[in-house]
Amino acid sequence: MGNLKIKNVTIVTPVGREAVKGDRMGELSVIPKGYIIITEGKISYAGSMEDAPATRPDEHYEEIDAQGNVALPGFVDSHTHLIFGGFRPDEFQWRLKGDSYMSIMERGGGIQSTVNATRETSVEELKKKAQWFIDRMSEMGVTTVEAKSGYGLDSDTEIKMLDAISELANEPDQKVELIATFLGAHAVPKEYAGRTGEYVDLIINEMLPKAKGKAKFCDVFCEKNVFELADSKRLLQAAEAMGYSLKLHADEIVTLGGGELSAELGAISADHLLHISDKGISMMADKGVVATLLPLTAFALKEPYAPARKFIDVGAAVALATDLNPGSCFSGSIPLTIALACIYMNMSIEETITALTLNGAAALDMAHEIGSLEPGKRGDVVILGCDNYHILPYYVGMNCVKTTVYAGKIVSQNP
Ligand code: NIG
Ligand code: FE
Repeated sequence: MGNLKIKNVTIVTPVGREAVKGDRMGELSVIPKGYIIITEGKISYAGSMEDAPATRPDEHYEEIDAQGNVALPGFVDSHTHLIFGGFRPDEFQWRLKGDSYMSIMERGGGIQSTVNATRETSVEELKKKAQWFIDRMSEMGVTTVEAKSGYGLDSDTEIKMLDAISELANEPDQKVELIATFLGAHAVPKEYAGRTGEYVDLIINEMLPKAKGKAKFCDVFCEKNVFELADSKRLLQAAEAMGYSLKLHADEIVTLGGGELSAELGAISADHLLHISDKGISMMADKGVVATLLPLTAFALKEPYAPARKFIDVGAAVALATDLNPGSCFSGSIPLTIALACIYMNMSIEETITALTLNGAAALDMAHEIGSLEPGKRGDVVILGCDNYHILPYYVGMNCVKTTVYAGKIVSQNP
């Protein structure tokens, strides 16, 4: 936790301590000639240079002169599958030749293939691999990362994945905060083929109690021929009774009603939503479920993008995240996420920034502590190498981040 002053900076931030909904997602506070003071890891001042208070002379502060460049809140990547064994480049080639994601999965590839590899990989090796991705994410301005289990599908390996996340989170010089999600219901493992209900029983009776305290959220791949509505509901209700907050992979491949289920259960977020119904959209908006949209996955699967505008126009809160994983979306690119959201999902750059900061924080139930540049929030700041945030989608897929600050410490510095 550091003491840091950032002077001569253009502050660009959403405002508030909860999800920003609908049209208000486009409202950012812009303060030219700004000054940010971070004291012991928390923002103590973010405003004009003129009004900046003096700090105590006996307290040492690092100083950055941003030379008029833009500061944004640290990006929140609220949906990733950061921990995994192996890679699946062959499947990507098969998909380019016309195979579908679900047909590969139904043949025993897909998620099960990464499960086989993850079961064989040590915690140390999983951590080393994940740290490489964390370092790249930090260079792109990410300061908070949600990471899911879900490539174990047996108690030991699911717990091994959660332990890897917790050990990474506790590394003394870690560059991001890591938030763990239990996703034992990511696929039905081969040992339980044709016995989905029995596998859900195993999750409820054995895995969820063991994962308690190691994961904040419980997620499910709610999808046709994977965990359909009844199994997803049974599982999530049991998880909620044990104190987990709820997330769903919903309506990703077909329109199943996962969006509606997320509203019925009061989930914190429903994610993907490429094929959500209009009824699901309005139910999520009414219940305040954050719609976490993952444009890199739609891009990599050649699927239609999620209806971001419909969500925003009915007053829902939209978050954006990468979905980094070895199968459907082997990318953690924040710059490309921004470009796709603006170009293909018709989100404005302001809405996109809100979706990657304050609303990403809300999707992790953390909007009161991160996601905006305001006093009291953690000192997570991205300084761009330019004085105009409009460059973010325009410079397609390229990294405009110069400096990433996590809890008041400079953790990445790009040339
Ligand atoms: O969010 N759809 C389910 N889960 C991941 C993909 C995981 C994988 O293919 O390994 C997703 O797209
Ligand atoms: Fe996912």
